[in-house]
Amino acid sequence: MDKLIIEGDHRLKGEVTISGAKNALLPILAATLLTEEPCNIEGAPRLRDTQTMIKILRSLGKSVDFQDGRICVRHTKKTRWIADYRLVSTMRASFCVLGPLLAKLKKAKVSLPGGCVIGVRPVDLHLKGLSSLGADIDINSGYVLGKTKGLCGNHIFLEGEFGSSVLATANVMMAGTLASGTTTIEGAACEPEVVDLAEFLIKMGAEIKGAGTPIIEIRGKKLLYGATHKIIPDRIEAGTFMIASLITKGELKLKNVNWRHFGAVIDKLEQAGAWIKKSEHCLVIKARAQLKPVNITTLPYPGFPTDMQAQMMALMAVTPGVSIITEKVYPDRFMHIAELNRMGTRIKREGPYAIVEGVKRLSGAKVMASDLRASASLILAGLAARAKTQILRIYHLERGYDNLEGKLRSVGAKIRRHKV
Ligand code: EPZ
Repeated sequence: MDKLIIEGDHRLKGEVTISGAKNALLPILAATLLTEEPCNIEGAPRLRDTQTMIKILRSLGKSVDFQDGRICVRHTKKTRWIADYRLVSTMRASFCVLGPLLAKLKKAKVSLPGGCVIGVRPVDLHLKGLSSLGADIDINSGYVLGKTKGLCGNHIFLEGEFGSSVLATANVMMAGTLASGTTTIEGAACEPEVVDLAEFLIKMGAEIKGAGTPIIEIRGKKLLYGATHKIIPDRIEAGTFMIASLITKGELKLKNVNWRHFGAVIDKLEQAGAWIKKSEHCLVIKARAQLKPVNITTLPYPGFPTDMQAQMMALMAVTPGVSIITEKVYPDRFMHIAELNRMGTRIKREGPYAIVEGVKRLSGAKVMASDLRASASLILAGLAARAKTQILRIYHLERGYDNLEGKLRSVGAKIRRHKV
């Protein structure tokens, strides 16, 4: 297992190119199961999760090559319909092969993904949606067993108590593309990654209207074709670098961004006092003067993204004043608080609320990453801390950031990886 060692207190200055979006790529790779024709996905980030989804596609009979950011998926005669626990349990997103397998093969056996440190993460909405399309769903020994004589379109309300579900929307939308008749998803997730998936499906010949709104209509087809598609930029990586710029009082130019995908993050950082200049595919950000505390509530898109909550907490932790962070998507997504407090932050959790009292300086410390975005939060705090910070268990980071430490080093961060 590796660890990262960061020597803090260095301003970041320079240019960073943002990679393709993990959360767009993963369901799009699952969508290649809907056709026997070749698919080419460009702008794919080099992540552990990318490799996991590629392994799952190979276990389901696809031939997959990945080089220079391009993933080529080809059909083989060895089609399988079982996605096993060994792979699915390491990455929740693999559950979104269920819809495509049911639609294309009319049967599927997919391991339940289990929970993770950010929450229980149920799949009831996925199963409700797919059952509404006529799938017989059974749960046995930790697996979902699904079968159907042929999926039929239906009108489905897909919101849960925490609002819309990104991957449940993806699963049902993909299943609807080969169902007979029309499927309407009411309470659909509106995230840009859902829109990117819909655009890929439309290139494959699917008929989809309303992606990006709470009502998506899919008119089923008999067949889908191969397609080529370039993944949208990763808005969470972009937001992470925006905070890296502010927390080190530096100035960064981000290239390959679509700033229209993260208006809530830009709005909050401008409220806090950041200077932000946007152009077509770039964004420049720096801290004007002393930042001010802002309150954050995470919500489904277009609200403030839960995947930026931990990173924003690190910034507020060194911003004089008090800010309140309310986590409405995953109320338990606060594993990073204890580790940040080891670095001298003053953060108190009260249920789904974190009360953050900004401090002047952080001290470096040995801390432990617990999940993907918590890892990013600890790195951001380490960049601002005096002296050295050591971050253990950084395998979490590699799941969702493409060479984060290399990109940070290229703009002046003193950060290096050590074998433990
Ligand atoms: C996607 O997860 C993202 N992952 C998550 O990013 C992100 O945090 C999340 O959406 C919310 O934006 C990928 O896209 C691969 P949800 P997903 O279903 O789809 C509840 C990261 O760091 N829910 O939108 O699994 C759920 O518990 C990851 O990149 C149900 O109740 O999340 C949560 O409270 C972490 N029943 C809320 O809905 C269900 O069947 C939203 O979850 C499904 C979800």
